[in-house]
Amino acid sequence: MRILVVGSGGREHALAHTLIKSPDVSAVLAAPGNGGTAGVGENVPVADTDVPGLLALAKDRGIDFVVPGPEAPLVAGIREAMESAGIPCFGPDAYAAGLEGSKAFAKEVMLAAGVPTAAYATFTDARAARAYIEKIGAPVVVKADGLAAGKGVTVAATVAEAVEAVDEALVRGAFGQAGATVVVEEALVGEEASFLAFCDGKTAVPMTACQDHKAIFDGDQGPNTGGMGAYCPAPVLPPERYAAISALVIEPIMREMAKRGHPFTGILYAGLMMTASGPKVLEYNVRFGDPECQPLLSRLTGDLPAILAACRAGTLTPGLVRWSPRAALCVVMAAPGYPGSYPKGMAISGIADAEADPAVTVFQAGTRRDGDRLVTSGGRVLGVTALGDGLAAAKAAAYAACAKIRFDGAFYRRDIGDKGLSREEN
Ligand code: AMP
Ligand code: GLY
Repeated sequence: MRILVVGSGGREHALAHTLIKSPDVSAVLAAPGNGGTAGVGENVPVADTDVPGLLALAKDRGIDFVVPGPEAPLVAGIREAMESAGIPCFGPDAYAAGLEGSKAFAKEVMLAAGVPTAAYATFTDARAARAYIEKIGAPVVVKADGLAAGKGVTVAATVAEAVEAVDEALVRGAFGQAGATVVVEEALVGEEASFLAFCDGKTAVPMTACQDHKAIFDGDQGPNTGGMGAYCPAPVLPPERYAAISALVIEPIMREMAKRGHPFTGILYAGLMMTASGPKVLEYNVRFGDPECQPLLSRLTGDLPAILAACRAGTLTPGLVRWSPRAALCVVMAAPGYPGSYPKGMAISGIADAEADPAVTVFQAGTRRDGDRLVTSGGRVLGVTALGDGLAAAKAAAYAACAKIRFDGAFYRRDIGDKGLSREEN
């Protein structure tokens, strides 16, 4: 089987790295890929949002299965485009991908399906939004409706801050069309968890719960990023709760989407806030998380292409999805300045040294090959991932590996996994 992985992040390197290990996979192409996917197979310079270009590439190169990593191609209809040309494609159709593509749509579906989530209202008119915010008071959360590259959410501590976020989206158009509608919602309090499930339209098989670290600095300080590290399993959501959580936040969505004629196939990712009154959904994603994918796939012992194909074909069974009992932890090494502007083209060294430990895999994100050199090309540069017998061992191995890797100004959080470790101690 020849597989095309779409995307260019750490998640896509982890997908390519895992897919090529299967005896059924003969080649993995990546579009556009990065320095890591170049080491697995071949990179082809087609943008991940260029659906006609990706279709032409898949036809031209005899691709048997397409695996989109990010949400944008799914929202743009890659599944329908590939399938109508007879090329199997993993993931939901554009309608179902709207669960991530439009926060207002996701809220409407959650309400229809009876999924617990923050109370909310949607607005296109700034005056109405301001009046609502003044009525409910702060803290309050303002979200641009559409895809805003992770920058569309403001958790406002004051009414003034929330009104500013509304003006930014609705008056100044900072997010373009993605911010032409805003969702204003109740601020929830609690610890966050990422709960992902493989879905085949009828059956959902949960993965082990993960915890991401969105803020740039230790102790969850500073601006939000795409994610600075992740680990699994996450003690905040122990395995004995998976079936109940799936029945609460995954299965109702699958039933609702099937009822609407768009059965959900692919990965449904619920971003949860574990509140004092139970888990509530902050958002849905329709794909693997990045960096959650890196520790998850490090622990997966089942055959990934077989699982993904079963999701598409409607033949998913829990027996396909098997995990190592070990813990996995990923530390993101970032370029200086991220999530703001940052330099590119800095030489990276020490990866082979870090990977001398068989428990360690360095997944590449913002990298590219420049002759024999590997250089940085993005904000999140590497996802240094380690397995261990328990979270503490995985953490120690991942940080020992980070210490061996160098590029100018490299920085990373030192506290990935600490919330899980403090729960283990209690
Ligand atoms: P989202 O893209 O909707 O997941 O939002 C990004 C981040 O903003 C989440 O991971 C949370 O940390 C925070 N957030 C979103 N919605 C809420 C909420 N209703 N209450 C508190 N924090 C939130
Ligand atoms: N790490 C969060 C996400 O992928 O959305």
